[in-house]
Amino acid sequence: METEKFLTVDSITQLLFGILFANFESMSTILTLTFKFLSENTRVVEELAAEHDAIVRKRENPNSRLTWEEYKSMTFTQMVVNESLRISNNVPGLFRKALKDFQVKGYTVPAGWTILLVTPAAQLNPETFKDPITFNPWRWKDLDQVTISKNFMPFGGGTRQCAGAEYSKLVLSTFLHVLVTRFRFTKVKGGDVSRTPIISFGDGIHIKFTAKN
Ligand code: HEM
Repeated sequence: METEKFLTVDSITQLLFGILFANFESMSTILTLTFKFLSENTRVVEELAAEHDAIVRKRENPNSRLTWEEYKSMTFTQMVVNESLRISNNVPGLFRKALKDFQVKGYTVPAGWTILLVTPAAQLNPETFKDPITFNPWRWKDLDQVTISKNFMPFGGGTRQCAGAEYSKLVLSTFLHVLVTRFRFTKVKGGDVSRTPIISFGDGIHIKFTAKN
């Protein structure tokens, strides 16, 4: 039986680089931005701490590990994660190829064209997200599922959706759990952000941590 040889040294190298890039670059950026947003919004940190302290108080053993049920109960945390992802627009757009001709506002996009879907245009649209550049996790309480699915695509969509989408949300929520239950933190300096189009932090962001209790 003939098998197609699709793994070459070159394709394996590219794949490993792609996975490292998709994983490291995105997670480090969103975590750094989340620190920036949190250190500038003490009310958000207070509500996060209240949610996570309540989770710890409900446990028989306060040192036991985080469970799936606890993760699913983190309602406010999910709003914070969504809001960070929405404002960050970590990936500035999605590439797609037109498989057949289609119409947009009277224009024909011909089959074969490469299309860049600029997702920040939806995620920062003031008609959907009032004061779009304000970090406001509470806005997610009032947004319905249809609006969210049409206007919030931090992980892309369809068959090429980010392979690490659920994993990323879990890591961010677990990180926030440890952060707010065990530490206090304040920004010392930095936090300026630029985009070229990858997000970068000019002088970094300096955070001071102190252990709780
Ligand atoms: C906050 C973190 C992350 C964000 C915002 C993000 C965002 C994205 C976006 C927008 C795409 C393109 C999806 C599309 O074209 O529809 C993508 C693809 C991808 N991401 Fe992520 N990502 C994140 C974390 C990760 C992590 C942690 C991993 C690996 C564990 C990962 C693995 C991948 C892979 C393998 C693809 C390519 C999927 C394909 O083309 O079939 N991502 N990501």
